[in-house]
Amino acid sequence: MRGIVLAGGSGTRLQPATAAVSKQLLPVYDKPMVYYPLSVLLLAAIRDVLLISTPADLPLFERLLGDGSAFGIDLCYAEQAEPRGLAEAFLIGRQFLGGEPACLVLGDNIFHGHQLSTTLQAEVAALAPEAGARHGCTLFGYTVADPQRYGVAELDSDGTITSIEEKPASPRSRLAVTGVYMYDGTAPERAATLKPSARHELEITDLNLTYVAEGRARLVRFGRGMAWLDTGTHDSLLEAATYVQVLEHRQGEQIACLEEIAFRQGWLSVDELARMAAAMGSSGYGDHLRRLAAAPPPVA
Ligand code: G1P
Repeated sequence: MRGIVLAGGSGTRLQPATAAVSKQLLPVYDKPMVYYPLSVLLLAAIRDVLLISTPADLPLFERLLGDGSAFGIDLCYAEQAEPRGLAEAFLIGRQFLGGEPACLVLGDNIFHGHQLSTTLQAEVAALAPEAGARHGCTLFGYTVADPQRYGVAELDSDGTITSIEEKPASPRSRLAVTGVYMYDGTAPERAATLKPSARHELEITDLNLTYVAEGRARLVRFGRGMAWLDTGTHDSLLEAATYVQVLEHRQGEQIACLEEIAFRQGWLSVDELARMAAAMGSSGYGDHLRRLAAAPPPVA
């Protein structure tokens, strides 16, 4: 499976913090926001990644993340010239995907919790062509207090999605569709058939509905022990930062430390990790890498 991080948009609700820099480059506590969705792809063991952003912001992402080798992945970049919707990622990424299954993660979504890696890897495996799955897309649901802000799903008794409504005024459930999506190899051709919505965007919900119409959209619930955090407003951004701060202080660990994940996946040697650690300044993140390189845990 290949991965796409969509880090476009103009971040209007975070102005003026986003006047000169992409929202997904703002810090969430101690690291840029985009580290968190990238960590989701790494935890899913996805190593071929395309990052899509605006023409103005793309060079900044390249400066931050390079070719991905520091995290054991292959990272390439593509422009989304205008904010024409999340599903456009599959038109922009069509060549990159080359007919392979895809995982899209939104550049402003933060996921954290026990067993996240296991859950994601199981769903990646289930969508491999040789697995012969009945479903063609896997969405991840999370119960929220304010479902009207999201895509909202309804399920039948075996977890197959029967409906999704985008930002419904009267939601039929509190089950929001989160910003990580997995698809079989047909997502680009489906995206090419979509028409822009009333807000002039190719909606990810409309792409998902093409699978729902065939009874081939599966939903996996993230339980209450998982965190799916919003970063869309100044308050939610601060809350997300506080969440990261509290856990990092309490555990003495780092959330979304990309080099650490790559090392634990066996993609970086201890020598490479030590080199990354040495190059990192004396931040908490750098100290964490140096500790890890000095006394590496056994690779999983
Ligand atoms: C988008 C999707 C929505 C989904 C949400 C997750 O919303 O359209 O279905 O629930 O991402 O973050 P938007 O960011 O466009 O408001």
